[in-house]
Amino acid sequence: MVKLAPSILSADLSRLAEQVALIEQGGADLVHVDVMDGAFVPNITFGGPVVRCLAGKTALPFDVHLMIEHPENRIPDFVTPQTEFICVHQEACVHLHRVIQQIKALGIKAGAAINPGTPVSMLESVLGDLDMVLVMSVNPGFSGQKFIPSAMVKVSELDEIRKNEDLGFVIEVDGGVNLDNAPALMAVGADILVAGNAVFGAADIPARVKEFKAIL
Ligand code: DX5
Ligand code: ZN
Repeated sequence: MVKLAPSILSADLSRLAEQVALIEQGGADLVHVDVMDGAFVPNITFGGPVVRCLAGKTALPFDVHLMIEHPENRIPDFVTPQTEFICVHQEACVHLHRVIQQIKALGIKAGAAINPGTPVSMLESVLGDLDMVLVMSVNPGFSGQKFIPSAMVKVSELDEIRKNEDLGFVIEVDGGVNLDNAPALMAVGADILVAGNAVFGAADIPARVKEFKAIL
């Protein structure tokens, strides 16, 4: 069963708990938390204090996507009883293997993300250590961008590798995901779909989540 992780980057952040309650009501599986530092990506969003405030306000697990430089200095900030995944960018980690072990040592599932310009092969040495690979289907920094089709090829490449090598990581796709491209992403092996604008941009947010869940 493919999971839906709405991204709160597109939510009305002045009413964050209420907005998360709406996706929970619709049947979302995870809350995707986009952390941006204004250095690794051009935008700044929120940090650990916001995520810790949200813990306990929803029953949904957190899927934390760190788009920050030196994530190793910040990982403990995002550990809450609800944090299921912490994902760092391959491009932001000189010592990616060490950062993955750091996340796992905190009892959290570890993910590594690759930008549209980064090939799957950059993760080859750590695929056996990962719980998640996040394929970016837009250049990170903003919601509401257009899906970059080469992401589809990367998902299918990763799916083939995990089958051939009997690996257990899940594949998440993030950026420009909508009701139209979701079926094709599922067909090539995606396990978790992130959707920002396609969920929080809807007039009826729980109904939109239900529409996604009906096709996943
Ligand atoms: C992009 C973020 C995404 C973004 C997705 O930098 O990592 O999670 O919020 O938003 P949409 O679905 O609108 O592209
Ligand atoms: Zn994200």
